[in-house]
Amino acid sequence: MSAELLRVRGIKKSFGATPVLKDVDMEIVKGEVHALMGENGAGKSTLIKIITGVYQSDDGEVFFNGKETEINSRTDAQNLGIACIYQELSVIPTLTVAQNILLGREPSIGKTPFINKKEMNRTAQSLIDRYGFNLNPTDALEKLTIAQRQMVEILKALSVQASLIIMDEPTASLSGKEAEALFSIIKNLRGMGISVLYISHRLDEVYMLSDRLTVLRDGKKVALLSKAEIVPENVIHLMIGKSLDNNADYGTMKPNNNETILTVKGLSRTGVFENLSFTANRGEILGFGGLIGSGRTEVMRCIVGADKYTGGELFFEGKPYIPVSTFKSILVTAFVLYRKTGAARDLYRSFRLSGISPCRTTI
Ligand SMILES: Nc1ncnc2c1ncn2[C@@H]1O[C@H](COP(=O)(O)OP(=O)(O)OP(=O)(O)O)[C@@H](O)[C@H]1O
Ligand SMILES: [Mg+2]
Repeated sequence: MSAELLRVRGIKKSFGATPVLKDVDMEIVKGEVHALMGENGAGKSTLIKIITGVYQSDDGEVFFNGKETEINSRTDAQNLGIACIYQELSVIPTLTVAQNILLGREPSIGKTPFINKKEMNRTAQSLIDRYGFNLNPTDALEKLTIAQRQMVEILKALSVQASLIIMDEPTASLSGKEAEALFSIIKNLRGMGISVLYISHRLDEVYMLSDRLTVLRDGKKVALLSKAEIVPENVIHLMIGKSLDNNADYGTMKPNNNETILTVKGLSRTGVFENLSFTANRGEILGFGGLIGSGRTEVMRCIVGADKYTGGELFFEGKPYIPVSTFKSILVTAFVLYRKTGAARDLYRSFRLSGISPCRTTI
């Protein structure tokens, strides 16, 4: 086993009278992708906030590179070489890529207080080239996709020689292709000896990327799994504390009735998915499973009118439905809800979501 980079031992944290972390141990070795999984509220984000100095633990020890240390602030974490990429990115939209990467460390012109922009862009470009990212130093962040903004955050971390990069649900707002690009970046980081602590709810990602996995349940560490042990049934069992087959609720959840509300017949989008048919009943929760890139998101985007489909038909409430735009889909759904339930609040909310002012809309 390679050398230890970070070890936390006996971490405890309560918010008021509620204990959230109960004696948690975790160890990350150099150059590994280490996943942290657990159900919502298990304590994952709280643990990484302690490691990155955002929160202080009530008890416990932290070792970095074999030495006991205290992380009392974000600066302490940065100085050790720990960087965190949160879902709410911390880059500044109005600044350029180079300005964001070198924020607070801009090169100056000689001994003057003026920023040497050329030098700043050159430094950023050399970092971009070194890691092979698809970025331009002079582009403003607001022009970039979420995925590219994440890359800027990663470069920012790399430019200060981070040896541990923590990612808290980094793929939550990425498309399949963007997520794949992120995975290859993560694999490159590992190849460079950088450790990545990866938080995700998606087992397929964790399975594909991780060398080891720590499972938290209800604020406690319940397992440390090696790559070979990262098997879906095993992980789910550890996360929820029971196996799905023994779940008393399983199989007893039935749709309220058999009234079909959505029928999808032979839906295709050339080169993306083909000839897909299914129905959804009123009052039922219909799940869609599949690996990353299998086309789940793309199917849903066509159904709500965000993308065009190239073949097939849709029926909504028994009538043919052509989703020309997401805007129309929201309106149609809102009116159906209103008609069925008379819930004016739902209708109002849907208007708000679609950017319409209900005050100016005739119902
Ligand atoms: N600042 C806070 N004040 C009070 N309670 C908090 C605070 N932050 C988190 N908690 C509580 O601590 C528990 C653990 O939250 P945490 O955010 O660490 O979970 P998580 O594993 O990251 O969950 P998720 O998968 O939903 O992101 C939750 O019950 C949460 O409500
Ligand atoms: Mg969280």
